[in-house]
Amino acid sequence: MIYGIGCDIEDISRFFEYIDNERYLQKIYTDNEIKQLHSINNERRKAEFLASRYAVKEAMSKALGVGISKYFSFKDIEVLKDNLGKPTITYKDFIINVTISHTKTTTVAFVVLEKEK
Ligand SMILES: CC(C)(COP(=O)(O)OP(=O)(O)OC[C@H]1O[C@@H](n2cnc3c(N)ncnc32)[C@H](O)[C@@H]1OP(=O)(O)O)[C@@H](O)C(=O)NCCC(=O)NCCS
Repeated sequence: MIYGIGCDIEDISRFFEYIDNERYLQKIYTDNEIKQLHSINNERRKAEFLASRYAVKEAMSKALGVGISKYFSFKDIEVLKDNLGKPTITYKDFIINVTISHTKTTTVAFVVLEKEK
């Protein structure tokens, strides 16, 4: 059963300033995501990485229907990749479908939440 859908679009440019802002990074991203960020050696890809992970978190908050709030916070999920590069997230007992796409300037994330009946 589909429980909810959510999408988010972000301008990549606004994330350049966060690349070295540890306080901001700690607020939004998990330790594992920050570790992945530090392993990237290209500034543009770093900004794209931060933007897309941020978009997934907001898309997830919309799919849940609660927004970023006392019910759901940025660090409640982290984006992982399978061995073919497909992004995955886990949260409670939901089955989660997530997809990400970028252009030169923007990134978009789309989340579909399913629950067993
Ligand atoms: C829902 C949320 C994620 C909206 O994100 P946003 O970036 O402000 O706005 P977006 O343009 O991406 O999305 C807006 C749309 O989200 C939808 N939306 C709002 N609340 C929603 C909810 N609880 N569930 C699902 N969708 C929701 C609305 O349709 C809205 O569009 P509308 O006002 O034209 O109807 C909001 O919880 C949020 O912005 N939280 C704060 C983020 C934050 O703390 N940033 C600071 C980081 S340091």
